[in-house]
Amino acid sequence: MQNIVIKGGARLTGEVRVSGSKNAALPILASSLLASGRSVYRNVPALGDVRTMHKLLGELGAEVETKTEAKAGGITFVDTSKVENVEAPYDLVKTMRASVVVLGPLTARHGRARVSLPGGCAIGARPIDQHLKGLAAMGAKIELEHGYVTARARRLQGATIVFDMVTVTGTENLMMAAALAKGHTTLENSAREPEVEELARVLNKMGARIQGAGTSQITIEGVDELQPIEHTIIPDRIEAGTLLVAAAITRGNVLVRDCLPEHLDAVIAKLRAAGVEITPEEGGLRARAKGDLKPTDISTQPFPGFPTDMQAQFMVLMTRAKGQSLLTETIFENRFMHVPELQRMGADIQVEGRTVAVRGPTRLTGAEVMATDLRASASLVLAGLIADGTTKIRRVYHGPRLRSAGQEAARAGRRRPTRPGADVKGRTKPAAAATRGTTAAPPVPARMLTLALPRGRILEEALLLFREAGIDLSAADKTRAGRRLIIPVEAAGIRVLIVRDTDVPAYVEGGAADLGIAGRDVLDEQGRDLYEPLDLGIGRCRMVVAEPEGRPVDEAAPFHLRYATKFPEITRRHLQSRGVVADVIKLYGSIEIAPLVGLADRIVDLVSSGETLRQHHLREVETILDVSARICVGRAAAKLHGDRIDSLIKRLRAVVR
Ligand code: EPZ
Repeated sequence: MQNIVIKGGARLTGEVRVSGSKNAALPILASSLLASGRSVYRNVPALGDVRTMHKLLGELGAEVETKTEAKAGGITFVDTSKVENVEAPYDLVKTMRASVVVLGPLTARHGRARVSLPGGCAIGARPIDQHLKGLAAMGAKIELEHGYVTARARRLQGATIVFDMVTVTGTENLMMAAALAKGHTTLENSAREPEVEELARVLNKMGARIQGAGTSQITIEGVDELQPIEHTIIPDRIEAGTLLVAAAITRGNVLVRDCLPEHLDAVIAKLRAAGVEITPEEGGLRARAKGDLKPTDISTQPFPGFPTDMQAQFMVLMTRAKGQSLLTETIFENRFMHVPELQRMGADIQVEGRTVAVRGPTRLTGAEVMATDLRASASLVLAGLIADGTTKIRRVYHGPRLRSAGQEAARAGRRRPTRPGADVKGRTKPAAAATRGTTAAPPVPARMLTLALPRGRILEEALLLFREAGIDLSAADKTRAGRRLIIPVEAAGIRVLIVRDTDVPAYVEGGAADLGIAGRDVLDEQGRDLYEPLDLGIGRCRMVVAEPEGRPVDEAAPFHLRYATKFPEITRRHLQSRGVVADVIKLYGSIEIAPLVGLADRIVDLVSSGETLRQHHLREVETILDVSARICVGRAAAKLHGDRIDSLIKRLRAVVR
């Protein structure tokens, strides 16, 4: 983890070179798995995600070497002749969702792949159902188990696949799978991103027969074998767009070299609409901001529309425009994590569902802010460039790109001594700031972790367990908290939310709480995309099937049985696994009486002592689930507060029985 410290106020002038495209490099590196032998890729960006892909290829058995050359940028050599392992482990996939793009190549080339489900991230749930649907349509047998997806197919078969929504890595995964499938594949409603077109170029160079990449209909004639190749990766259009915004927002004049203007049409159009002068020049694009910036509305769309990966950066630019701009995010459901940080710097931004209203011009002031995802962090660097004073961006784990972009521009500025460049430094320790004479921002207390606890028995048992682990949350005890539902416990650095047990997962998945405690019944019933790192062994009970004493139910009866329960999903899955055909009636309470008043034949409910069943003359038929409460953690929180959450869990694990 790194911090970036920026002293704002400089005007950016000079020129800067754009590096290779991250979102092209990742699937291209994965495509090396489709052939046996040594591939060579040039202009590979030096990034954390790329390093993770190198590690993943190494994990699968490939030999990966890298080197850097002045002109060619990063070079990666991948030799796949010894690839045997087909499992992409959780530890790697959790750090980089795009690891999922090894699923198609491994299944196509090795007939089997086992990949940890990527799960959600700071910007959204990001399911991969379209990837799996496509592979299944090509004849792969798909299984989801223990957080992993396994795909098996002796040989994939060509198929026609229509995507329910435009998906970039979905298109890329299935294009790679189809390249080695038997027969003809058509991908309808495909992504048209330049990175998809670039991947098709690479695959065709390897011997594939792909047409229509860059349009919404891609056709692939499968071949029996592909060859390793050498390839130079296209420049990163999002980095180029970010640098154009950096020039405009600092009222600068910068030539962005080695970018491809045709990949940036939508971004250039919006920058021009905002009053930024964008001029194609030999080897690049020049950005100059002259007059006042004009408010400009955007709505993110799949390519060739305005890219979602430029939304955060454009938002900062609009804080300088005279008037109100409306920015709508249509691709990801949670891509405004940068807004509260920009508001802390003084931006006037209102969020209304998936649209934000940005009013300007506002003067931003330097502050300590938190990085969430790569693009949100880029927007905080841009804000730091124009803010009064010093901005410190914490928890930057997106690798050097962010810092290098700022320093590139700074270095470019200084090349022309008359004009100062930006003051951007990467720091690990605040002390560093002091030694170099720039004033480090006063330390801001780390944000408290938010813990959602269900009121009732689990709350009491959880407080006891925390106390045993040396964490005193007794302020949240009913007697002390009274009717309060939000209880900050400064000493523990934890803010407790007291919520209904069935709502805990929603608070955690929605990011309102970083972690929570919920019963296995609730978690299994809702099936939300959360990490469940620890079973606390509290709130123990059992989920059982019960029926009226003396009225045994014949499961083979020629009519639909009726099961009443609070847990319809778990009940349906259980009955399915038992081959029992039944109607499941969802109730919210007093389940016990349902069979007694003829509403149902059986119930599925939680029991601890079994006393309630006995009082209602019901007898247990079977236990379908042993229930206890678990810690559940949000995907974004795991990334943002990983260390603190891990240490908390470690302390709890030590006292769990
Ligand atoms: C790619 O992500 C990029 N990542 C993202 O860039 C980019 O934001 C995104 O495309 C959109 O342009 C890489 O190329 C590595 P999607 P991807 O599948 O492929 C839904 C960055 O900052 N969906 O096109 O994962 C999904 O939830 C990153 O560089 C399903 O519902 O995005 C989203 O709402 C962030 N089911 C929408 O479609 C699926 O099976 C588009 O997602 C697949 C996607």
